[in-house]
Amino acid sequence: MANDQEKEAAARASLRFVKDGQIVGLGTGSTAAYFIQLLGEAVKNGLRVRGIPTSVRSREQAASLGIPLTTLDECQEIDVTVDGADEVDPQLRLIKGGGGALLREKIIASATRQLVIVADASKRVPVLGKFPLPVEVVKFAQALLIKKIEGLGAKVSLRRAADGKPYLTDENNHILDCRFEQIPDAEGLACQLSDMPGVVEHGLFIGMANIVLLAKGSEIVELRKEAIRRGR
Ligand code: A5P
Repeated sequence: MANDQEKEAAARASLRFVKDGQIVGLGTGSTAAYFIQLLGEAVKNGLRVRGIPTSVRSREQAASLGIPLTTLDECQEIDVTVDGADEVDPQLRLIKGGGGALLREKIIASATRQLVIVADASKRVPVLGKFPLPVEVVKFAQALLIKKIEGLGAKVSLRRAADGKPYLTDENNHILDCRFEQIPDAEGLACQLSDMPGVVEHGLFIGMANIVLLAKGSEIVELRKEAIRRGR
């Protein structure tokens, strides 16, 4: 499938940002899984890195491939993290969390010098918001938060697992998927959500991505934060 080939191509293109001896954040999701797979091959071929996974499932994948792992307890400075995204706008603002790992992903991103986002070109949007924004919440507050976030103009649904039970994150919280259709003021919305007691984290990643690699067919489009600052 073209889309999977593009995901793999973007993941492959990110490998050049990983250098011998580095601490590497391991993202979550189908595109990040290609990166972890390819990193495993590079490790087998002699690359020495230590990975910090952003989810239990990425940890299991990396361990099964023999990638040496570490934790935030042992190491608080991450050289490079490669992760996916659900939407990317022209300012490299992101929606993340479609795979449910946004909290650990944002924590790892916040400790990372270079955040490289890998995606197929369908993730590129002019304005964020078509993809329902994931918001991780404590269970106790969820009904109240559904009401509050609906008051901001979103259609909100509690994420459920395949068995119909509420989806549980790695930190044992719930996720509200908030369909705004358009988020014209991502910074403002991020502040409003962060100010709501009971919101653990939201999936707006603003000012975090340094490089975005978007695969379209066999072409890789590279977007950089510096280029935006210079107004290009
Ligand atoms: C995981 O919680 C997410 O942030 C993913 O990075 C995002 O959903 C992209 O996933 P795919 O690579 O599977 O599209």
